[in-house]
This record gives sequence, C-alpha cells and structure tokens, in this order.
Amino acid sequence: MLNTCRQRRTELLEQLPNNSLVILAGYQQKVRSKNIKYHFRQDNDFLYLTGFKEPDAIAILVKHEVSEYLLFCRPKDPAQEVSFGTRAGVEGAVEHYGADKAYSIAQFEQTLLPLLQSITTLYISDELGRFSSSLVRWTNNQRLTAPFDTPKNFISITPLAKMLHAKRVVKSQAEIIKIRNAVAASTSGHKAVMQACHPGINERELSSLFDFTIAKYGCNDVAYPNIVAGGNNACCLHYEENCNELQDGQMLLIDAGGEYEHYASDITRSYPVNGKFTPEQKAIYQLVLNALDQAIAIVQPGSIWISLYDTCMQVMAKGLKELGLLSGSIEHIMTTESYKRFTVHKTGHWLGMDVHDVGPYHDDKGNWRTLEAGMVFTIEPGIYIPEDALDVPEGYRGMGIRIEDDIMVTDNGSENLSANVPRTIDDIERIMCK
Ligand code: GLY
Ligand code: MN
Ligand code: MN
Repeated sequence: MLNTCRQRRTELLEQLPNNSLVILAGYQQKVRSKNIKYHFRQDNDFLYLTGFKEPDAIAILVKHEVSEYLLFCRPKDPAQEVSFGTRAGVEGAVEHYGADKAYSIAQFEQTLLPLLQSITTLYISDELGRFSSSLVRWTNNQRLTAPFDTPKNFISITPLAKMLHAKRVVKSQAEIIKIRNAVAASTSGHKAVMQACHPGINERELSSLFDFTIAKYGCNDVAYPNIVAGGNNACCLHYEENCNELQDGQMLLIDAGGEYEHYASDITRSYPVNGKFTPEQKAIYQLVLNALDQAIAIVQPGSIWISLYDTCMQVMAKGLKELGLLSGSIEHIMTTESYKRFTVHKTGHWLGMDVHDVGPYHDDKGNWRTLEAGMVFTIEPGIYIPEDALDVPEGYRGMGIRIEDDIMVTDNGSENLSANVPRTIDDIERIMCK
C-alpha cells in the first residue's frame, strides 16, 4: 500500500504545474450521540493517495523542482490510545506512511502559510468543506502581508476532484482483486439469505444474516445500508427500515453489498418470499433479466455509457407493452417515455471505493463517455408496480423487481463479477427449495 500510494502521488504531481500545492483533507469523526462516535471511515480520495486511515489528518503535496509530502495527524497520546486505540503519531506517519515530514495536526496552518509564499496554484480536495472559511484568507495571505513593491502571488484555487477522479474511475489489478473479494463475500451473503427466506421471517433477520455472512468472508462493513424490502416496500428505491415481516405471495427485493478493504460491491436480487414465482412475478422478472443481459452483452471498450440504459429501456418498454401494462405503439411509448412510470431510475453507476464511485460520465465536450478496460460499474434495471396502481391487473401490484450485477470491462468485452449470485428463475427456485 505504501508503494501504491507513493506511485499515485507521483503520477498526480506529474500532471500539475510547478509551484503547485495540494491540500488533502481527511474526514473527522462524527458524533452519534453525546460522547459516542460513529465508526470512522476515511475519505476515499484521502485514502487513495495516503493509505492513512485515522481521523483528523491532513496531507500537503508540494510540487517545486523537488516535491514534498507532508502529513499532519493526531500526535501520540497514551491516555487517548488506551481508550480509543493506537495512533501512528508523527513518527509513524514518516516511518509507515512515507511522509517526508510529519507534524501534529495543530501545526497545520502555521506550516502551510509559509509554503504558500511561493505557490501559484492551490489544489484542494476537501469533500466536506472543512477549510471553506479559511481558503480565501490563505490564498490572499502573501499578497496582503508582503511589502507593496515585492512580487505578488495571485494564487488560484482549483478542485483536485476532476484530475483525481479521472484516475480513480479506471481500476488497477490490485483494486479489482479487492472488488472481487467484496463480490465473493456478497455472493455468499445473498445465497445465505435466499436459503433462509420464507413467509413470516422479518426483513431485519435477513439483513443481519447478510451482514453475518459477509463478515465470515472478510468484509468489515457493508458498502451502503442494506435494502431488504418485501412486497410494496420495494417500490421505495432506498427503503432502509428493514423491519417488516415477509408475507406469503410477496416478492422480496434485497440490494446488499459488502465492502472489502474499502472497495464496494453492489448487488440486487429479487425473488418470491415463498420460493416459487407466480406467472405475473415470472413475467416481470424475466423481462428485467432480459434487459440486464442485453445490456451486459453490449459492454466492451468503446461502448457508450448511455447505450446501456437505452438498451434496458427498449427491452423493458417492449415487454411491458406485450404484457398490456403500457399502451400505444412502441414508437409512441419510446417518444413519450411512458415506460418511466414503471422503470423509474437510471440503470447503473461506477463502482469502486465508493459504491456510487467517482469519475465523470461525460467527456469534456459534454458527450456521454465511452467505456475503457478496467472500468467497473453496475447495471441495475428495475420495474416497480406500486400497490395503488389500480389500473394494473392485481397480480402485478405491490412489487419492485430490480436485478443488479457488477460488471468489469475487459480488453475485448466484459466480465460479470456477480454472475454466481443465482439470477435465473430456475436457479433461484432451486436454491430456495430447501
Ligand atoms: N445500492 C445502491 C444502488 O444500487 O445504487
Ligand atoms: Mn447500484
Ligand atoms: Mn444496489
């Protein structure tokens, strides 16, 4: 990790002009209640470039003739460390994280201001705006404090995100291994839930079973709150209450993905609570699966991102018309986008350290971007028919069916990383028939 992060910093600095300085703000701990804090998770941009997982850290990268990496962190403190765990401290920041110099966090501003005397561009990575109120003061400091007839710096402030996120969107082999591990753990989690699902079980029991199973396979956390939604609950796209008892005859939608060493998986499966599809459930399920499969089939380097969504919508619109759920000619349905009543959302996003990973979906001209080998993303078409859609035949009402797979672009096509989570009707009925 030390060398990987060093390499990433070197590659980033190579893209910057001389006399640049980069400030990377790490996350701070958040309060859950009174003196209890939430479990801490580092900002992904910070982690990507430093590998440093402790809260309250800041990094500075200076690009002059010779570049420098400074890390500001919490100093060693035996009393705090007994209560809350060990700290790298200033010494550890140099020894284990490769900083050229390290300081206590309290020394940040007094160290930064002299460095800014000779800087013309300040790049800032500060997702939560920790330094919003200080930035203009910092960048004006040299101009305002230097004698009137000395050269002045007019420092421009540039967000680092555009440059950094363009790098993060294409994954290295080491990153792909971590995503594979997250997907493998989640595959076991989804299978365990399929086998345990039955009428009368509570959504929260299945959610906990998923968490328990991915922990066995090396995940420390989920990549996002589990969505375990029976029946009509699945029509709320981010239903997270997970507190209702599942009923015979309902569909279950479970969208759950483990996180492995800060890399996410994001997988959805939908199936009957009692393990046997009704004809209506089967019809909608097969339609969503066909849409997903046809979209996966066109993934290769050079494919246009939005073509995956367009493919899903064409397949689902045609199928919904054939089932009598949409009326009018297919041309009319596509032009008026009447299918959106049931398809609701877009069909995917980049996947990586963030579940909705960073990186542009458009090129600099505003066109949808093309796919490249090493990109990883989800494809996740869905059809949602709420219970109050009274104009739809009853057998279809009160269900949301989404199927979501994690797809990697390869040199000549794609690999479905989550293909081992049962996804055909036969495979699902077989695994649920205990
Ligand atoms: N689980 C969040 C999503 O599918 O985007
Ligand atoms: Mn997703
Ligand atoms: Mn998902």
